[in-house]
Amino acid sequence: MPLPDVIDPRWPSVERLRERARTRVPRFAFEYLEGGCHAELNLARNTAELREIRLRPDYLTDYPGARLQTELFGRTWSAPFGVAPVGLQGLMWPGATQHLARAAHSAEIPFVLSTVATADIETVAAITEQRAWFQLYHPREDALRDALLDRAAAAGVEVLVLLADTPTFGYRPKEIRNGLSIPPRMSVRNVVQMMGCPTWSLGQLSHGAPTFQTMKPYLPGGLNLKHLGEFMNRTFEGRLTVGKIEGIRARWKGRLVVKGIVTPHDARRAFDAGADALVVSNHGGRQHDVGESTVHSLLELREALGDDPLLFLDSGARTGADVACALAAGADFVFLGRTFMYGVCALGAAGGSHTISMVGRQLRQVMEQVGCVTPGELRGRRYAWSGPPGRAASD
Ligand SMILES: Cc1cc2nc3c(=O)[nH]c(=O)nc-3n(C[C@H](O)[C@H](O)[C@H](O)COP(=O)(O)O)c2cc1C
Repeated sequence: MPLPDVIDPRWPSVERLRERARTRVPRFAFEYLEGGCHAELNLARNTAELREIRLRPDYLTDYPGARLQTELFGRTWSAPFGVAPVGLQGLMWPGATQHLARAAHSAEIPFVLSTVATADIETVAAITEQRAWFQLYHPREDALRDALLDRAAAAGVEVLVLLADTPTFGYRPKEIRNGLSIPPRMSVRNVVQMMGCPTWSLGQLSHGAPTFQTMKPYLPGGLNLKHLGEFMNRTFEGRLTVGKIEGIRARWKGRLVVKGIVTPHDARRAFDAGADALVVSNHGGRQHDVGESTVHSLLELREALGDDPLLFLDSGARTGADVACALAAGADFVFLGRTFMYGVCALGAAGGSHTISMVGRQLRQVMEQVGCVTPGELRGRRYAWSGPPGRAASD
């Protein structure tokens, strides 16, 4: 199925969506979406270095047109990109998880549900007719790990995404300053910000305060929602190990993706432990500020591992042209986090389909311009000299 084409011409770029989102979402929630860690160096580097990739056009050849459809894990998706897992989506826009899951499902692209999203596994599995992927923070207790895996399997989730890049909490100055909590603190500053965003505030009233829905059955009775964050810290073990991947692999019958891998050493260990694919990701610059951009990591991984292993990329891609560059740098599939959230924050329920259409149309235009029929052909189009600064070209 081709992607929908429902672009509202008033919002033709991610910059326009971001600007509108900024006016509709209270600052503490918008900064939660935008922010990176420390000095936000990797946040900037991810997009800047991805945009160092250049594509070589081929004009004088017969061309049958672009086909965005991409085979992955036994399904044909409409495009080689999907929606990355984002926690607390409902804090940024009421109902955002459901809006994005519906849009991704109707466009036939993957939607990845975060462990700490504001809709639960069963709801999203039903919306997506079992096509959603589920991202798991690794629980400390085996009993909880098994309960979550069993719920995901029973709901029909086919792909589990295990997170590797949160061994510790990212130091995020904006979140520290805003004193982010669930539900939002009723400080004078926050209340003033909420009053300035009436559509957001009314939406929160009608949806109810956002909470980590998937985790609700495991919350101790009488737990004050304010202590939810502490409960989550006690419950999940951020540091993933080979043993933990193997433990999951032994129980999880579906596809297993490890997210947040950026070095060949970790990549080999994750594949040896049973991963079917990796997401080359640095959590959108929210965890490790003095690391590499993900396109740099991807180029290094491809050089070390060759063409065959399934490598996805996220962190830094904002547009369809960015997706094209990530594919050219060696990604088999690309995920976007903030871009789709900007779309929903800007346009509400219509924002998911609008933004998916926009990214798809941008990608298609780049493919048509350079003369690639399939997304996979983009890999042969990278200029030999292109790539992040300081790195020798690999082809
Ligand atoms: C507000 C926010 C919350 C996130 N929450 C999660 C999460 O709960 N689980 C997860 O695996 N990744 C999470 N991520 C990381 C995204 O899955 C993804 O790696 C990142 O957003 C990609 O970068 P991009 O925003 O530049 O596209 C979050 C990202 C953002 C921006």
